[in-house]
Amino acid sequence: MKVKFAVLGAGYIGKRHAEMIVRNENAELTGFADIRPADTLGLDAFGVPLYNSLDDLLSNGPEFDVLNIATPNGLHGKQAIQAIKAGKHIVIEKPMALTKAECEQIIFQAMANHKLVFCVMQNRYSPPSVWIKNLLDEGTLGKIQMVQVNCYWNRDERYYKAGNWKGLQELDGGTLFTQFSHFIDIMYWLFGDITDIKGRFEDFTHQSNTEFEDSGIVHFSFLNGGLGSFNYSTSVWDKNFESSLTIIGSNGTVKIGGQYMNEVEYCHIKDYTMPLLPPSNPANDYGPYKGSAANHNYVIDNVINSIHQKIAPTTNALEGMKVVEMIERIYGNNPYFPAKKGLLGDNYFS
Ligand SMILES: NC(=O)c1ccc[n+]([C@@H]2O[C@H](COP(=O)([O-])OP(=O)(O)OC[C@H]3O[C@@H](n4cnc5c(N)ncnc54)[C@H](O)[C@@H]3O)[C@@H](O)[C@H]2O)c1
Repeated sequence: MKVKFAVLGAGYIGKRHAEMIVRNENAELTGFADIRPADTLGLDAFGVPLYNSLDDLLSNGPEFDVLNIATPNGLHGKQAIQAIKAGKHIVIEKPMALTKAECEQIIFQAMANHKLVFCVMQNRYSPPSVWIKNLLDEGTLGKIQMVQVNCYWNRDERYYKAGNWKGLQELDGGTLFTQFSHFIDIMYWLFGDITDIKGRFEDFTHQSNTEFEDSGIVHFSFLNGGLGSFNYSTSVWDKNFESSLTIIGSNGTVKIGGQYMNEVEYCHIKDYTMPLLPPSNPANDYGPYKGSAANHNYVIDNVINSIHQKIAPTTNALEGMKVVEMIERIYGNNPYFPAKKGLLGDNYFS
């Protein structure tokens, strides 16, 4: 039987979810909900009804099994809880929510109502991610000594536009939540939790269009051993430079790079020959700027197979919560939060 989906938030990534649902022969798209008027959303080709809120969808919409939440970050928690209480499984776009406390409430409600929660971290499906995960699980790199993640991207006035949720503390949450949570997720998935976090943060080029920092240098220890650093910025001029992961192990060294960790740039490991990896999917293309890997098809497959009890969720709610919790701890020292909060005023429409 086909799994029935509805999509909440019919913006850029909500439409991507819808496309992947429509393309999947075991899935059916039943409707959308969005607060914006239909003529601004470009949904005609999908041929399914649009409801003007989650309340409207749940009260007046069709029967469906799974709600895909693709609204601004700060709304995920409340909407997920409402949908679970209404008996839906949920797929939540990253980040799961903006606080660990909200994630805990989602998990509590999901358990109480016997519903599944899927978080979207589609970079895990990229061939270099799958390859390095296996290599680390097998211990091929030996003892992990140092890990360095560098995410140097461009997000400028072409991205942060007045009237949008992006850049607002309450709805966006910050650079690590919106741009780089994929890479926090990959780091956690590969190396586990971090401790003894020290960070320095700056706002180089976003004084007038975000309420938070644009750059940070963060270093820490892994609970499993080894030192790590996470360096990030959205102030790179004109276009993304790279998202890379360098691993120094006792048996060898690996660097995965490219714009979104999509290419193995260096691999030198004792008694090991690098296999040929399948090509990565291209990055999500937003016109002037590029995002993470376009792998949402795998997410929909995973949801369907998990509901049919064939496999477990690839990114489950506990992992989604862990990413949020790690970002909260990293931001714990950030002086830019209180300093810039409220800078843009209450200019969002929702
Ligand atoms: N996985 C990825 O690679 C990836 C990429 C981009 C965005 N995202 C995530 O997807 C989410 C959406 O991002 P986007 O870039 O599509 O944003 P967007 O602004 O293009 O779309 C958000 C949509 O939500 C709608 N909305 C706002 N408030 C609502 C409400 N109360 N009820 C219903 N709809 C509401 C807006 O009208 C808009 O159409 C964010 O959480 C973002 O972090 C994930």
